Amino acid sequence: MPHTIVIFGASGDLTSRKLVPALYNLMRSGSLPAETRIVGFSRTPLSDDEWRASLRETTAKHCGCGPLDEASWQVFAANIFYQPGDIGRAEDFRLLAERLTALERGGEATRVYYLATAPQFYEPIVAALGSQGLAAETHGSRRIVVEKPFGTDLATARGLNTSLHAVFHESQVFRIDHYLGKESVQNILALRFANTIFEPVWNRRYIDHVQITVAEEVKVGRRGGYYDTAGVLRDMFQNHLLQLLMVTAMEAPVRFEATAVRNEKVKVLEAIRPLDLSEVAAAGIRGQYRGYLEEPGVQPASQTATFGAVRLEIDNWRWQGVPFYLRSGKAMSCRTTQIVIGFRQPPLELFADGRRTFHREANRLVIQIQPAEGIQLHFHTKVPGEGMRLRLTDLEFSYSREFEGRLPEAYEPLLLDVLTGDASLFARSDEVEKSWEIIDPFVRAWSSVDMPPIDAYETGDWGPLSSFEWMAAQGRTWFDLCPVLT
Ligand code: BG6
Repeated sequence: MPHTIVIFGASGDLTSRKLVPALYNLMRSGSLPAETRIVGFSRTPLSDDEWRASLRETTAKHCGCGPLDEASWQVFAANIFYQPGDIGRAEDFRLLAERLTALERGGEATRVYYLATAPQFYEPIVAALGSQGLAAETHGSRRIVVEKPFGTDLATARGLNTSLHAVFHESQVFRIDHYLGKESVQNILALRFANTIFEPVWNRRYIDHVQITVAEEVKVGRRGGYYDTAGVLRDMFQNHLLQLLMVTAMEAPVRFEATAVRNEKVKVLEAIRPLDLSEVAAAGIRGQYRGYLEEPGVQPASQTATFGAVRLEIDNWRWQGVPFYLRSGKAMSCRTTQIVIGFRQPPLELFADGRRTFHREANRLVIQIQPAEGIQLHFHTKVPGEGMRLRLTDLEFSYSREFEGRLPEAYEPLLLDVLTGDASLFARSDEVEKSWEIIDPFVRAWSSVDMPPIDAYETGDWGPLSSFEWMAAQGRTWFDLCPVLT
């Protein structure tokens, strides 16, 4: 069956930096189904050849595949087409429909509509696809991919779901979060459910707390206008951080398929203890890097958080009493995404010369998602020589040492999943709504006029001082190491 991927927002950054390079890499590795066409739709007036020429340049830059192989590019480019059009004009959708039918020679094809535009265009596009009959599955499957942000709060996410469901069945909708396409995130499922040795300790009996950190060195750059209305909670927590939490905390699904996996993920969100506004203030810390107010597009007295840390409790048998700390920030000390499983101390201190309290760090499992993907287990070892002197040592697994070749970019497996119709790694409607239900109270509290002024932090720090004090007050410390693996 031929495939047609229709990209709305064809002249945008996402298309040229991520989507087309990912499709090109899939073609090169032989994974892209034969007869897969790409059709770009956007307002910029371009011919097929002009769009191909511009994509050739951007793909060479962003594919991470070395110099572009001319012969492969020619094969790939022959299946790229461009249809200029305005999202607001029904006539342009009619022309798009005609072009698609012509390209598919009136036959059957799996069609994927990819929303890579600014989010305010999602609903008009969905409505137009509906009114032109483009969602009907009379000539093959029709799927729609919705990029983040999926709404800006619970109400808008519900509204978007309602608009989608007016035209598409839920099984046709693929809400993408590129974090789930990362090899090292999918490997959490393998680590937990393809091994037996972790399961017995993966619970409240052995785990003291979990830290999930997505630290970025970059600042908001050219995205100040968007970022100032979103802030770190909407930009990173509602999607990427909660996804990492779900795969860390979920129960084993009965099968590795979409419904079973998504049911287990949603159960985690359902078990997160709801907080009222007064509790939210104590359950998080917000910060803003110095210099943020001078970024283009940012309001002069903005209180938008560029750093956030929140504590969530999961009220179920596995996790009762084990706090999950989620933390993310821009302009931080380095780029690292890691999940730290902090284990409990042993029941008895044997090696401290009669002192009862522990002075050693407890065991840790550090799952490094990026940039150097791998896992490190921290444990104590006797230092050779007299007496029982101990030192923290580690066992480690590194993707780059273990496997040859580059790791696929997150968009590659996800695009392939859309083409084959596997929704396991995509968010279901109830999942996004639940996520907003968890994040909304923090957004409301953090934007309330009653909040004290936001804490500042220096570029290159791990967030504001208050974040360390807040952790210390709970008897814990952040694990602040730039990538533990290199
Ligand atoms: C995006 C956010 O979703 O994820 C960005 O909008 C952020 O602000 C990016 O920089 C991080 O993605 P990654 O894959 O580089 O960790």
